[in-house]
Amino acid sequence: MRWSETKDKSNIVFHRKKVTVVGAGNVGATAAFLLAQKELANIVMIDVMDGVPQGKSLDMYEASPIQGFDAVVHGTQDYADTADSDLVIITAGIARKPGMSRDDLLSINVKIVAEVTKNIVHYSPDCVILVVTNPLDAMVYTALKVSRFPKQRVIGMAGVLDSARMRAFIGREMDVSIEDVTAFVLGGHGDTMVPLPRYSTVAGIPITELLSEERVQAICQRTADGGAEIVELLKTGSAFYAPGASVVAMAESILKDKKRIMPCAAFLEGEYGVDGYYMGVPCKLGGGGVESVIELDLTDDEKSQLEKSLQAVKVLMKDVDALEHF
Ligand code: NAI
Ligand code: 2OP
Repeated sequence: MRWSETKDKSNIVFHRKKVTVVGAGNVGATAAFLLAQKELANIVMIDVMDGVPQGKSLDMYEASPIQGFDAVVHGTQDYADTADSDLVIITAGIARKPGMSRDDLLSINVKIVAEVTKNIVHYSPDCVILVVTNPLDAMVYTALKVSRFPKQRVIGMAGVLDSARMRAFIGREMDVSIEDVTAFVLGGHGDTMVPLPRYSTVAGIPITELLSEERVQAICQRTADGGAEIVELLKTGSAFYAPGASVVAMAESILKDKKRIMPCAAFLEGEYGVDGYYMGVPCKLGGGGVESVIELDLTDDEKSQLEKSLQAVKVLMKDVDALEHF
């Protein structure tokens, strides 16, 4: 079954939202499969590797009778197939290998994200762009500049993942359901990210009232090291199940206009004292993308951690500007 045929003939296909996932690698394919299982949209997966998005989408289609979903996943190398997407998720690029920091990826991935963004904008001028490719805060800025979209429609995924890791570690530490655990991680998606224990709770109770200072610090540190911990174990790539799930949580809030409050990399113009950079902050995420940024009251210590994280993002941004891809 070809995408063009189903699009013309099926009302179901026509009425479902459309999501393009650029990069059919570990994160992209995981996100596509989860999106399809939740029937949030029909999905186009596009990748430079001939046959890979086609093979993976066929494999997903063959899983659909078992999992019971009717969403269509179409694999392609042709950007024309992505036309009129509501949401485009960019996962294209290379991932971390052991010993590599996210920032080492910058010079390769900035070219990929710039080229991908140009193609996306040509075919889907009204879409929301959700960037996953690392180094996240620089790549989402690249997509903003190349797309010339309003800042609300170019968003980065990192805080949902970092907060999910923190929630998982809190749940394990306290031996409670993760359903009762919330967590917030702000700042750049790097070693200087800022987990916020005061705003991280079990059944509404801040973990600072439930755990010793030492255990809270250990959880914060493991959260900040969460990506590297998995890279060290996998040896040939980085995390993808939790990143894929994080992408889908954000996609759901956008596609269904749920207006969930989630930590997103948003382009800041004065909020949190940051001007002209992407940083992870709590946002209202709806059909229009980032509909507002929520400003939390921070302690002096939290402010100074956020400032340190901003300095790390600024270093990255100098390198992006130097690459002159815009
Ligand atoms: P992967 O290597 O499994 O997949 C990347 C895919 O991108 C490959 O299939 C590759 O062929 C494709 N690709 C490369 N250039 C392309 C282009 N010009 N157009 C279309 N496709 C292209 O990597 P994985 O694990 O899926 O990670 C993808 C990216 O996401 C990496 O940069 C990684 O660091 C980042 N990441 C970010 C996270 C976050 O929290 N923001 C979490 C996890 C990963
Ligand atoms: C992660 O945090 C590699 O950024 C990716 O897993």
